[in-house]
Amino acid sequence: MRIPSPRWLESELRDGSDIASVSFCLGEHGGQMKRGEHITLEIDRLNAKGDGVGICDGREVVVPRAVPGDRALVYLRRKRKGRFEGVIDDLIEPGVERVDPQCVHFGVCGGCRWQDIAYEDQLQIKETLVRRLVAERDLPVALWRPILPSPVQDFYRNKMEFSFGSSQDGTPQLGLHMRGRYNRVFDLETCWLQSEISNRIVDSVRTHATQLGLPVYDLRSHEGLLRFLVVRDAKRTGQVMVNLVVARYPDDGVDALLEAVLADLHEEITTCIVTLHSGKAQVALGEEEFHVRGDGHMWERCGEMEYAISARSFFQTNTLAAERLYETVCELAGDLVESDVLDLYAGTGGMSLHLARLARSVTGVESVSEAVDDARRNAERNGITNCRFVGALAEDLLADAVGEPLRYDLVVVDPPRAGLHKKAKRGILDLGPGRLLYVSCNADTLAEDLRDFVDGGYEILVAQPVDLFPHTPHCEIVVSLRRTQDWNPHSTD
Ligand SMILES: C[S@@+](CC[C@H](N)C(=O)[O-])C[C@H]1O[C@@H](n2cnc3c(N)ncnc32)[C@H](O)[C@@H]1O
Repeated sequence: MRIPSPRWLESELRDGSDIASVSFCLGEHGGQMKRGEHITLEIDRLNAKGDGVGICDGREVVVPRAVPGDRALVYLRRKRKGRFEGVIDDLIEPGVERVDPQCVHFGVCGGCRWQDIAYEDQLQIKETLVRRLVAERDLPVALWRPILPSPVQDFYRNKMEFSFGSSQDGTPQLGLHMRGRYNRVFDLETCWLQSEISNRIVDSVRTHATQLGLPVYDLRSHEGLLRFLVVRDAKRTGQVMVNLVVARYPDDGVDALLEAVLADLHEEITTCIVTLHSGKAQVALGEEEFHVRGDGHMWERCGEMEYAISARSFFQTNTLAAERLYETVCELAGDLVESDVLDLYAGTGGMSLHLARLARSVTGVESVSEAVDDARRNAERNGITNCRFVGALAEDLLADAVGEPLRYDLVVVDPPRAGLHKKAKRGILDLGPGRLLYVSCNADTLAEDLRDFVDGGYEILVAQPVDLFPHTPHCEIVVSLRRTQDWNPHSTD
């Protein structure tokens, strides 16, 4: 790996390098740093999104895929809100050793940012990051446990969302988003995240969409047809769900496309859905669902439970690692024999059903009505009778319960990445359960919420990171808290 020196740079520039100018940090630059330039930069930390950050001339430079300890020649591609964003042009001295990424799309694709870092090193970097984000808020944690690895690192996802795009000649593209380009898609050849079947489904859909000349939905004109392909692939049962999201339906072209795809993959696809999404928001959801094959559900097994999952319902994306997550939740929940549990953000009942085997009762709260229906079906399928599910926003349910004699011994929360709504935090503090379990996929919002619980009189007993997302900077964290004598329900005011 080359080490730049002034002499090296001189010869690069003399030899017609396209590097316009290179500056050294720190402080050697004279405050003239500009977009389009190169700098050498030491990465000293990761930000909450998992991007490397270094300081040059007193300004932050954010460099995706860089990790602490890296020294790199960085191209400054843009400046936003006083902060530069750069890309590594040459890794001069790696902070951790890099390995050959197995994916042909590495670097272009917006996913698998850390595929060139050995898995052991990924785990260590994640663990350091989550611990730092919690420590930065001055939160005492009695016990940090070492991160639990994912049992599988390739083909671990049970759900993938592929986007349609148009190539320059107008033919349909189908794949994933280019890194940092939310309106640009590249044609996916092979992805190591989901499964070999999923790669074949993508190929079949793209081939037939091209042959049939079906138009791709255009983000600017809002014309066209094809928007997303969502594939769900159950790791324990082998069931496969295909969900095509389109801008209009019924439509002969869509029917012809799915007929051809189902003929190609007759044996593999268990259920096939068309989702009509005529709105402008670029999300793989819609206003109506049509079942083309099967009943619109996929069955997955996770731990000892079986789960029906419908197209709109949440399910943990890494089934095998979710088994470890649920084991951790049950273990940290402690003795529940005489306990009533409130599981907020329950999804299809993933945690609720596991906890119900141990508790006197569990109440799961979930906002998506299809997921609530799935969760009820799942309780029945698994013979669980002490678990009920309520369709509501967690914050509304808690706010409406003010003054009611609600009593829960344990509250479990597993909110989306944005963390807890202020009203939900307030509602939980008002309830004042003796124990609280917070499950989070975002250490930054977790730390912010933990601050409020600690200020409200809770202490943090254990924090356990669990890796559900190999090759990315993300992981789940399970945190157990206990109410102390300083409990103060009004602390988030
Ligand atoms: C991270 S998932 C947790 C799922 C579940 N704990 C599991 O392990 O499968 C978050 C869930 O919260 C639901 N959700 C999002 N906002 C919500 C809200 N304000 N109130 C209730 N549920 C909500 C989502 O639909 C999703 O199912």
